[in-house]
Amino acid sequence: MHYTHPPMIKVLFVCLGNICRSPLAEAILTHKVKEKGLSDSIVADSCGTSDFHIGELPDERTLACAARYQINIQHRGRQIMRSDFKGFDYLIAMDNTNYENVLKLAGKYKIAPRNIFLMSSFKNGIEFMDVPDPYYGGEEGFEEVYKILDSSIDGLLLKLENELKSNA
Ligand code: 4NP
Repeated sequence: MHYTHPPMIKVLFVCLGNICRSPLAEAILTHKVKEKGLSDSIVADSCGTSDFHIGELPDERTLACAARYQINIQHRGRQIMRSDFKGFDYLIAMDNTNYENVLKLAGKYKIAPRNIFLMSSFKNGIEFMDVPDPYYGGEEGFEEVYKILDSSIDGLLLKLENELKSNA
């Protein structure tokens, strides 16, 4: 028996609008994965629990924040859907409200919520519970979100790299 494809880990970041936190998380993970030469092994996507911004580009302030850190960001807003629960290995919610809503949806679809996590469960240096919603605040809120994500995505990547090693 030969496997014809390498092990692939699929990560879906989830926030409310899918224009601020989760597309930035997707872009940061994709950037770090590329730097480590792991693009064939780890892929990232993002979505929102709401339908508020379907089809939209990330918020201007998200784009500006990504540009400051030279992170490429390519995303259009989309809402979480049933197939995401089976299609991704990790569904990672940015805060407790979105986490609860993702769990509720899993219940509605009668899917065991084994792959649903909170971003804070991967924290690695910076202490936080929720990635704070920056939508109604100023630029500094996006900087705070960036710092939290940069640190916790390092924590997530450590775990994913170990998983890849143990599956090799
Ligand atoms: P996100 O931020 O969930 O990080 O994308 C928000 C974006 C839009 C809204 C709320 C939060 N909104 O109410 O439209």
